[in-house]
Amino acid sequence: MSDAVAASAALIQQMLGLRRPRIAVLLGSGWGGFADQLQAAVELPYARLPAFPGAGVGGHAGLLRAGRIASTELLVLAGRQHAYETDRADGMAGAIRTLAALGVRTLVQTNAAGSLDAAMPPGALMLIRDHLNIPQRSPLVGASGDARFVDMSAAYDPLLCAQAQQAAQRAGQALHEGVYAWVLGPQFETPAEIRMLRALGAQAVGMSTVPETILARHAGLRVLALSLITNLAAGMEAKALSHAHTLATGQAAGAGAVALLAAVLPALQV
Ligand code: HPA
Repeated sequence: MSDAVAASAALIQQMLGLRRPRIAVLLGSGWGGFADQLQAAVELPYARLPAFPGAGVGGHAGLLRAGRIASTELLVLAGRQHAYETDRADGMAGAIRTLAALGVRTLVQTNAAGSLDAAMPPGALMLIRDHLNIPQRSPLVGASGDARFVDMSAAYDPLLCAQAQQAAQRAGQALHEGVYAWVLGPQFETPAEIRMLRALGAQAVGMSTVPETILARHAGLRVLALSLITNLAAGMEAKALSHAHTLATGQAAGAGAVALLAAVLPALQV
């Protein structure tokens, strides 16, 4: 364990006292309102945690918060560093290794994504069943030992997926399922790239999540991941894509996303 991870884990443990959260939730664009739902919340800014990244993209806070939903103890990470900010895929390595050091067993990731399927419109929610690592970049380049050869054949935990889908159905919320294609960004895709991704089997496209899934699997964490669809992908609509539009749709549809998380998290058997 690196010094930065050990120091970060010690600070968070101090904040947690006797709490032992087994689930951590990483909030992406549009999902930030979930942090306000936590009961008995305590928090630390990433800036206090040496293994955590500095300030990120607009719309991300860089805040670690602990609290409860129903009786489920959670650690919530509001803000991630993206590979397009630094040209490095390992920006969240220290944060995820800190979670593992604290005894967290499951990482629930959330993001905003574009839809490649007209039947999955803006506002829809998608359970990520598998991913395409389009840049073929890894946060584990330079790691040593056999553990770096991570098995990715069931990266998105099938049991957690089933439990999430059942919880969504009980809550009366439609939850699509599909393959998420990670692109480096920060530019949006061309229509030709979207046709390529569709031909490769993707239903959604976005600029995050995949490096963190690899890091989490390397650290021994189980992964569940949810996308909030903020737009139809490039070429599917007449209007141009923009980050402002992603954030605005994220805000408009955020309530449904937050309600889904509140229904799903207590149902996970971790
Ligand atoms: N492409 C890539 N990333 C995204 C999109 C998109 O259309 N929407 C939200 N994040």
